[in-house]
Amino acid sequence: MSIPVTVVILAAGDGTRMKSRRPKVLHEVAGSSLLGHVVRTAAALAPQQVVAVVGHGADAVRDTFLAQWAALNPHPHLQPAVVVQPERRGTAHALRLTEAVVAGTKRTLVVLSGDVPLLRADTLRRLLTTHIETGAAATVLSTTMANPTGYGRILRNTDGSFARIVEEHDATPDEKAITEINAGVYAFQVEGLFDVLARISNDNAQGEYYLPDALTLLRTDGHAVCVVHHPDSEEVRGINTRAELAAVAEAFRRRRVAELMAGGVTFLDPATAYVDPDVQIGLDTVVYPNVHLEGRTVIGENCRIYTGARLVNAQLGDDVTVRDYSLVFDSRLDDRTSVGPFAHVRLNTHLHEAAVIGNFVEVKQSSLGAETKAMHLSYLGDATLGERVNIGAGTITCNYDGKQKHRTVIEDGVKIGSDTLLVAPVRVGARAMTGAGAVVTEDVPPETLVVGVPAKVKKSLT
Ligand code: UD1
Ligand code: CA
Repeated sequence: MSIPVTVVILAAGDGTRMKSRRPKVLHEVAGSSLLGHVVRTAAALAPQQVVAVVGHGADAVRDTFLAQWAALNPHPHLQPAVVVQPERRGTAHALRLTEAVVAGTKRTLVVLSGDVPLLRADTLRRLLTTHIETGAAATVLSTTMANPTGYGRILRNTDGSFARIVEEHDATPDEKAITEINAGVYAFQVEGLFDVLARISNDNAQGEYYLPDALTLLRTDGHAVCVVHHPDSEEVRGINTRAELAAVAEAFRRRRVAELMAGGVTFLDPATAYVDPDVQIGLDTVVYPNVHLEGRTVIGENCRIYTGARLVNAQLGDDVTVRDYSLVFDSRLDDRTSVGPFAHVRLNTHLHEAAVIGNFVEVKQSSLGAETKAMHLSYLGDATLGERVNIGAGTITCNYDGKQKHRTVIEDGVKIGSDTLLVAPVRVGARAMTGAGAVVTEDVPPETLVVGVPAKVKKSLT
């Protein structure tokens, strides 16, 4: 079912309890800001309009919101709106400020908090379906928390229907004992909503205009207010502190790792697998303990990712081995390649089929042809290597002259002797060889041997 909706994301809060110079919703978890996760969920609903209310750190929050929306681009024609809340006067006050953008539409209004990042689009769809089917004026998502401290509590009438929401600061001891809480996620009929918001008072412990009070007013006005209880309390956790941030980060990891295991991936120690939400992994790949898989990393089938590896936006084919403590950044490793241990592969490097990078080798913005090997202690930067090239231990491409970077080209079947220095720009022709310690400053024709100056025995030291 597709329901025309406007999504409002409340993101103006100070986040005092984070004790940070950064606005709370810009703190990062699972590879994205808190706000970024919420924007993603909002986009999954394919709304007709999306509005963010910003305030604390307004410019930075606005930029992140617009950039994130543009990156997802669910509706190229949709111009997201940003409303500034100059002072934090509460969630109802924040929503009131969207009146000019929102009122007058016949759509359903979905209100999300910028600090509830684990919420799934499916849960919102369930909330919306109930909201539409019951014809309620407002529908709120609730859950049961073993420790509800800090959340608004849902008070129900004896017949089980919604009565009101009481905030932690205003709750009596009896009310505080209630474990059903307000998730801070709502669907509203737009019609009449802004009149109700205008009637909310700030006569409460925090002197704020509480959005949950809109539900109480609607109820007392005789409108239907629904509560949709969500069984997964973890999903609606709000983040107010660093401890909650860490707990939510762990929840994100567990969620993705569980999905990947269900899809046929082995994790030797799921608890120490740091996997971002967008990471994809093929069948029968084995992930060892303490591995970080980040960003848009895609791993094929039957790969082995050993302890301590960190892959950021890496594209791996099938049967790839990443040995212990290797870092692969923005690079592509084709089928049957192998890197590490202790390798650093970065900036659009491309290893073609069965190429091998060994211990303590750094490869930057380079392409290695099929079956090419650089096994030990080398730096290959801005280099294009053909197929079946062998790079001896300690080889360096001297790609930087202090001002500019230059390219090194090594054609098919070349054997580079240990400790060769390739002073770029330079080209080594097919099947040529360099001797150990050669300093290659000019192009080498194909099938040619070049050697450096060998050390001479000078005198005895004794
Ligand atoms: C709010 C709810 C509470 C619910 C909880 C769920 C209110 C009064 N209370 O409490 O019932 O259990 O969420 O997580 O709504 N914000 C603004 N402007 C403001 C104040 C807040 O934009 O003036 C934004 C914040 O950035 C945040 C969201 O609204 O994203 C919620 O505000 P927060 O202060 O975190 O409310 P809670 O105390 O968590
Ligand atoms: Ca909160």
